[in-house]
Amino acid sequence: MHPDFWHERWQMGQIGFHEGKPNTDLVAGWPGLALAASARVLVPLCGKTHDMAWLRAQGHSVVGVELSAVASEAFFREHDLTPDVTPRGPYTVWSVPGLEIWQGDVFDLPTDGSFDAIWDRAATVALPPDLRRRYAATLARALKPGGTMLLCVFDYPQAERAGPPFAVPPEEVEALYAASFEITRLARPADAADEKEKTRLGVSRASTDLYRLTRAG
Ligand SMILES: C[S@@+](CC[C@H](N)C(=O)[O-])C[C@H]1O[C@@H](n2cnc3c(N)ncnc32)[C@H](O)[C@@H]1O
Repeated sequence: MHPDFWHERWQMGQIGFHEGKPNTDLVAGWPGLALAASARVLVPLCGKTHDMAWLRAQGHSVVGVELSAVASEAFFREHDLTPDVTPRGPYTVWSVPGLEIWQGDVFDLPTDGSFDAIWDRAATVALPPDLRRRYAATLARALKPGGTMLLCVFDYPQAERAGPPFAVPPEEVEALYAASFEITRLARPADAADEKEKTRLGVSRASTDLYRLTRAG
């Protein structure tokens, strides 16, 4: 997608993807990763998700990456936080202790393996296939060897609607991530959120699928 697509969505308030509370799969699945509280956690394509505040409350040092200044400003305002805003390389960094949003392009992330973990919800699925491959390679380079990623994607019949969000079925997760990660699909019973997503997308079937990816050492 062209950046203008997303800037427009934020300007117009067309943010149906925003949950307004910490994501259920994050809250249920994150403890199973058994990460140290001190872990440095990347939240790519973060929007203004409450997941960042939840991760920070676990003691993690959180870095969100987001194109939109509107989303970045709204996150801090809605959480009653007053950030410092400073330029850093290709990014404008909005920061409070324990949490930064790097406002800019995810493809400018450093490739130094400096993150311990990644939370991807509505991020892989936000990107069209060509960008998705580049994105997966970018994440693999940002994560340290042995690092963990919790990946939350949607699957639905892609022929029934155009993305985003795009359908990311198990074979696509494999195609994107198997080169750099060991992939484990986590059990996740269908729930009310799937039904809501099916209605929101106007498709005949939709599921939310959860994966644990471990970066090859
Ligand atoms: C579908 S939303 C998901 C937001 C968030 N993960 C959530 O769960 O609410 C995708 C977000 O990615 C941002 N985005 C899209 N392309 C990006 C890029 N290349 N770099 C950084 N952010 C990007 C958009 O502005 C949008 O806020």
